[in-house]
Amino acid sequence: MKQPETRLIHTRKERLGRVTVNPPVERASTVLFSTEEALYGPKPTYGRMGLTVHRELEAAMCELEGATYARLAANGLQACTLAIASTVRAGDHLLFPDSAYGPTARFCERRLPAMGVKTSRYDPRIGAGIADLFQDNTKAIFLESPGSLTFEVCDTPTIVEAAKARGIRTIMDNTWGAGLHHQPLALGVDLSVQALTKYVSGHSDAFGGAVMTGTPGMAGRLEAVSEDWGICLSPDDAFLCLRGLRTLKTRLKAHEAAGLAVSEWLAARDEVASVLNPALPTHPDHALWQRDFSGSNGLFGVILNPVPAGGMERFFEALHLFSMGFSWGGFESLIIPCDQQLTRMKGNWTDTRAGPLLRLHIGLEAVDDLVADLASGFAAMTGK
Ligand SMILES: Cc1ncc(COP(=O)(O)O)c(C=O)c1O
Repeated sequence: MKQPETRLIHTRKERLGRVTVNPPVERASTVLFSTEEALYGPKPTYGRMGLTVHRELEAAMCELEGATYARLAANGLQACTLAIASTVRAGDHLLFPDSAYGPTARFCERRLPAMGVKTSRYDPRIGAGIADLFQDNTKAIFLESPGSLTFEVCDTPTIVEAAKARGIRTIMDNTWGAGLHHQPLALGVDLSVQALTKYVSGHSDAFGGAVMTGTPGMAGRLEAVSEDWGICLSPDDAFLCLRGLRTLKTRLKAHEAAGLAVSEWLAARDEVASVLNPALPTHPDHALWQRDFSGSNGLFGVILNPVPAGGMERFFEALHLFSMGFSWGGFESLIIPCDQQLTRMKGNWTDTRAGPLLRLHIGLEAVDDLVADLASGFAAMTGK
């Protein structure tokens, strides 16, 4: 798929009228209004509705994702829940993938039932079979591609086609594709969601979420849910997300190149059973990824072969460049064991894998140094 042309840098003419190239960060709850505004409108605003930096970030996200409307949220999880709550109400049914980000799955299975919405999981590789899971009251399908921790790629156009035939809304968590490497709205998805916390902000120092749409009627629903739940993004985090967007393309290319190099190195190691990176030709969903994505990044999974007793402790303790911690998309390399976080449908492939599952995020360090770090981890693990 062709990479979108983004115009995140404003023209000189657009900047005229202010003296800085970037928007001001207005830290404000109160926004003053005149007597005329107070008595006769237009409706006075308030800091929770966002100010200059928010409007610029929304405009940039629309351009990035090919949307006509964007709504910001405090973090990626809140953007997911905002998108979902804008498509279902009490009495409805929602489908979400077995590989959804854990807290999104928890929202679907704990919060939505408490709000009168029924949910069920589907196998992310279900494709056209999704239609068999439709119920009379199915109103929305949540997608995440590739899936969290296990990196399955959905056949999005096929799922979208089945959904459209029944008037069902589709939502995609597009954080991995970051808008640059995957454009769900162009594939017919109604709502694209991003955790701006990851590649958009890019430095592990801010939170942010955004929901983008081009579907008529969805902007009003997103606005209403945001207003009712008081959803907003702090001006400082909005500024950091907008700043990150300026270098997204350059950083993502570097993460992609390093991610591929480390993936290929890992795939050739005896300690590794498989590398879960859809950009590798050996990945079962590589063809779907090639069709629907224009690039990859530094986030992927690794299934190890069986590890000797105490081997995982020795492996993690031997690493110096890879730190352990949640999140991804920043400048730094991270590694986490995933078995503790995996919640999957009974009988799913995860029951039959060779050894432990790890998730790696390849940062902007030198590939040779990262590979040497992992090699010393494997040496400590196996005692060789
Ligand atoms: C795929 C995906 N979606 C959403 C989120 C949530 O983002 P945040 O941490 O900003 O709430 C994450 C966080 O790791 C994620 O990996």
